[in-house]
Amino acid sequence: MKILITGGAGFVGSHLADKLIGEGHQITVIDDLSTGRYSNIAHLEDKPGFRLIIDTVLNAALMEELIRETDRVYHMASAVGVRLIMEQPVKTIETIFHGTDVVLGRCAKFRKRVLIPSTSEVYGKGISVPFREEDDLLTGATDKHRWAYACAKTLDEFLALAHYKETRLPVVVARLFNTVGPRQTGQYGMVVPRFVEAALKNEPIEVHGDGTQSRCFGHVSDVVNGLSTALETPACFGQVVNFGSDAEVSINDLAKRAIELTKSTSEIRYLAYDQVYGDGFEDMQRRVPSLEKALRLTGYKPTKSLDDIINDVAAELRSDMPESKLHAGK
Ligand SMILES: NC(=O)c1ccc[n+]([C@@H]2O[C@H](COP(=O)([O-])OP(=O)(O)OC[C@H]3O[C@@H](n4cnc5c(N)ncnc54)[C@H](O)[C@@H]3O)[C@@H](O)[C@H]2O)c1
Repeated sequence: MKILITGGAGFVGSHLADKLIGEGHQITVIDDLSTGRYSNIAHLEDKPGFRLIIDTVLNAALMEELIRETDRVYHMASAVGVRLIMEQPVKTIETIFHGTDVVLGRCAKFRKRVLIPSTSEVYGKGISVPFREEDDLLTGATDKHRWAYACAKTLDEFLALAHYKETRLPVVVARLFNTVGPRQTGQYGMVVPRFVEAALKNEPIEVHGDGTQSRCFGHVSDVVNGLSTALETPACFGQVVNFGSDAEVSINDLAKRAIELTKSTSEIRYLAYDQVYGDGFEDMQRRVPSLEKALRLTGYKPTKSLDDIINDVAAELRSDMPESKLHAGK
């Protein structure tokens, strides 16, 4: 098949590209390299059937051409990461909403299967875990910029489901919970690569808040398997489905485990949220998905543990780090 991956030079998109090209498909990646990196897909450039276009999904004329000629679309391009969202709220809203509007409009016109990734952020301040797809969503006030991401993604979901309702567009909405693994950068506030990198350098690990907040971390290899199965499963069309892991860990325990597994001597330091993000930041205490619907519709079950994730991220960072930066171990 011909498959278009928007944002395919990013973290999740590049793993999808690896998987799908390995299955013999022809892959076109369009990416503006804003948070993605050429190095994530450099190894694919010589593979037959792979094509990279460096441009924006907001280029509607180009997207029309690309979507017309493809069989499947994975729309992974998005503004991502808490830090980016706090610092560039206008770009966040525009990229997410306009980008998805362009993609869905062309997919509807040419009747193409499309996957729209959403996020666990849409569950907002909900407290009744595990979060189920049909739950009410509770976001914060509009002067708290963090919620711009959740609300823009929620609007993407509404638009995707509206296309399904009106013309039966074969669209799947996948709500990703924290997805981690090699190639994710800590630059935009992602916690696992930040912690593991600091641990490898024996530098202080900075925990934002008091560290009692918890998250569930899914390995990117499990998640991309789930996404590609969902897009090939007609029962998922017009559905919202959670993907990720339901194994919960506090941020304090994540920091401790990163230290143990890398045999680091890093200490843990605590920073208040407003020191890191300025005013207008709110965090959620817990975020646990119900994976029951993903299991029922697609057979999805995460297979990798938190230790697997930390070890994989550490292995990649070690291979990229100059010897002088790496600690020698305890
Ligand atoms: N990684 C996670 O934990 C997570 C969690 C929830 C949702 N998601 C969603 O998964 C998708 C992929 O996220 P990721 O973690 O791989 O992030 P990422 O930043 O690595 O990937 C996003 C990619 O989109 C590209 N991009 C941004 N704006 C673009 C534009 N206008 N035109 C073309 N390309 C553009 C970036 O350069 C980047 O390569 C996003 O939709 C994100 O919201 C990810």
